[in-house]
Amino acid sequence: MVIAIMKIIPEIIGLAREHHQSLLLANKCINAEKSKQAEEIAGLCQQITETFSRDFLRHFDVEEQFVFNLLNDTPLYSKVSQLKKEHKILLNLAKELQQKPSLLSEFGLLLKNHTRMEDREVFPFLTEFLTMQQLQDIKNQYKFL
Ligand SMILES: [Fe+2]
Ligand SMILES: [Fe+2]
Repeated sequence: MVIAIMKIIPEIIGLAREHHQSLLLANKCINAEKSKQAEEIAGLCQQITETFSRDFLRHFDVEEQFVFNLLNDTPLYSKVSQLKKEHKILLNLAKELQQKPSLLSEFGLLLKNHTRMEDREVFPFLTEFLTMQQLQDIKNQYKFL
């Protein structure tokens, strides 16, 4: 994560910082699932159902509107279209977790892989495809949301 932040441009540092939180959550899910402690799993699932969309919807919206949409005509197109689909899947899984704790490891693994793909395969290449003005717009929009 530290290496990823150092590589990316300052304009999207806010998004990258939130990736630290999403990786922590993803690892918590994966570890809870491994622990096989039903009570711990149920508590975490309830917490995610109650808080995930509140905590991450804005992050997803900023990525989709101000990052992914600008990459539609670039070689990253297929990656961002996959990442957009994953946002929907993550939000749906989070909604269901309280009722279906068996989905916890699927959710944790997807959140981890999703975040890593953005950190490693999308953010580091933004400077190649976006203008300085577009990068500045991402930064401004992020501040005011
Ligand atoms: Fe994302
Ligand atoms: Fe993200």
